[in-house]
Amino acid sequence: MKFFVDTADTAEIAALAATGLVDGVTTNPSLIHKSGRNFLEVIKEIAALTPGPVSAEVVALSVDEMLREADVLRKLGDNICIKVPLTLDGLTVCRRLADEGVTVNVTLCFSANQALLAAKAGAAFISPFVGRLDDIGFDGMTLIEDIRTIYDNYDFGTEILVASVRHPVHVLQAAKLGADVATMPPSVIRALAHHPLTDKGLATFAEDWLKTGQSIV
Ligand code: G3P
Repeated sequence: MKFFVDTADTAEIAALAATGLVDGVTTNPSLIHKSGRNFLEVIKEIAALTPGPVSAEVVALSVDEMLREADVLRKLGDNICIKVPLTLDGLTVCRRLADEGVTVNVTLCFSANQALLAAKAGAAFISPFVGRLDDIGFDGMTLIEDIRTIYDNYDFGTEILVASVRHPVHVLQAAKLGADVATMPPSVIRALAHHPLTDKGLATFAEDWLKTGQSIV
C-alpha cells in the first residue's frame, strides 16, 4: 500500500519524506489556502521534495479552462499529477490528459458509479473521500469495497487512492480492502507508528540496559 501525505506544508512533507515511508503528496485548494503560500511556488517546492506523484488540483470548471490550468501545472515538475473534479467536464479533461500520457487523479468521488466513470476516463488515481461520507452518517469504507470489486471485475488500472482519511482505522480498513494508496494528514501517518505498549516496552528496555552498565559503541 502506498502512503501519500495530504498537505501543502513543506516542512511536514520534508520531515516525513526523510522517513522513507512517503510515496507521494496530495494537495487541494483548501490545503493550499491553509499553507498561506503561492500555489505555483509551493507545488514546485513540494515536487522537489519527493520523487513520488504530487497532486496539484485545477480550480476551473470548464474543459478548456481546466486544460489551460493543467498545462501550467504540468510544467512545475515531472512528477506532477493533475487533479480534476469528478464532473463530466472533469472526466472529459481526464480522458484528454490521459490520452497524452498525463497522470490524472480524479477527486471528490463519493459513489461507485463516479469511480467507474473515472476508470473509464483513464484516471491513474481515483480519490474517494471516506471521512466526508462518515461525517454525514454513511460508511465510507463500503464505497472502497464497492470500487475494489468493480475495478477487479474489469481489471481497471486506476489506483484506488483513499482520501479524506481521519484516523489510523481508516488506513487499516483501506489496507484490508486492498486499496492501492491512502493519503492522510501528517498526524495520521505519525499515529500509525504509535502504540502505548511499544513506548512502555522501550522504556523498560532502556531502564534495564542502563542497569547493565554496558555500552555498544
Ligand atoms: O485532499 C483530499 C482529501 O484527502 C481531503 O479530505 O475531508 O480532509 O478535506 P478532507
